Amino acid sequence: MNDFISIADIDRAKMEELLEIAATVKRERAAGRSDLAGKTVALVFHKPSLRTRQSFEVGVFELGGHPMYVTDREIKMGQRESTHDIGKVLSRYVHGIMIRTFAHSDCVELADAADVPVINGLTDLLHPCQIMGDLQTCAERGKALDDMVVAFVGDGNNVANSWVNAAGNLPFELRIASPSGYEPDAGLLAEARSKGANVNIMDDAARAVEGADVIYTDVWTSMGQEGETDERRAAFRSYQVNDDLVAGAADDAIVLHCLPAHRGEEITDSVIDGPHSAVFDQAENRLHAQKAIMIDLMGE
Ligand code: CP
Ligand code: NVA
Repeated sequence: MNDFISIADIDRAKMEELLEIAATVKRERAAGRSDLAGKTVALVFHKPSLRTRQSFEVGVFELGGHPMYVTDREIKMGQRESTHDIGKVLSRYVHGIMIRTFAHSDCVELADAADVPVINGLTDLLHPCQIMGDLQTCAERGKALDDMVVAFVGDGNNVANSWVNAAGNLPFELRIASPSGYEPDAGLLAEARSKGANVNIMDDAARAVEGADVIYTDVWTSMGQEGETDERRAAFRSYQVNDDLVAGAADDAIVLHCLPAHRGEEITDSVIDGPHSAVFDQAENRLHAQKAIMIDLMGE
């Protein structure tokens, strides 16, 4: 890999290799590693974060490297200077760049300009690191990545879009239940289907979770959409992951949420704190999955 911008850019073999490395670094965490010894990774954030920032900082440190947090207050990408020039200059200092930003095109433009690997830590379109940690969690919980049924309930936004990308590489069944107008990206769906993805888009949450092995949800209002909060609460009212909905899934189904959760909106306390929930393992696995990505891109 040269960059990690989208799961659609890698194939099944690379996904399996990354998941294997992620499992190894998790198992052997206490031993320590030095894959990034003497290397610096810039972590550029244009949106808030708990998991992505901390897991990348800790991940770079535990691989022997130096994480450098960069905010847009200082660099003002595209205003103070061009995204292209920032990519060129950062490449003279650091060995890799992770960016969380709004427009996906800014992430792509940075990667095109940079001479070092760029990792997408979330854009308005995609959240690929998230899905690698999610798949690690599914595998750990005994789900067969080849024939599990994943029911995504809620907003067909960046997280759902990256699940669509993953379905283009792995033959699990992906059902996405979203209200009309909030479905995943049509272009990404067409691309995944052309690679054989088994994806079904529907508007009925109960139908989506029927017998499912994994139930997944995300916030109804993503970062940057705060002005649409009321409208979205109304549109998504019947898409809450609650005990009634979970009862329709397989008995051993797991419930995943990328977090942060808006408890009482897209998911109830009883589900997120209940016996099916794997959300905190899932949050931890961001660390391991991203170490695998960095080892592949920047490791010796
Ligand atoms: N899931 C996730 O990316 O969390 P943060 O927004 O806190 O980084
Ligand atoms: N869809 C959410 C994911 C947060 C990790 C957002 O973009 O805010």
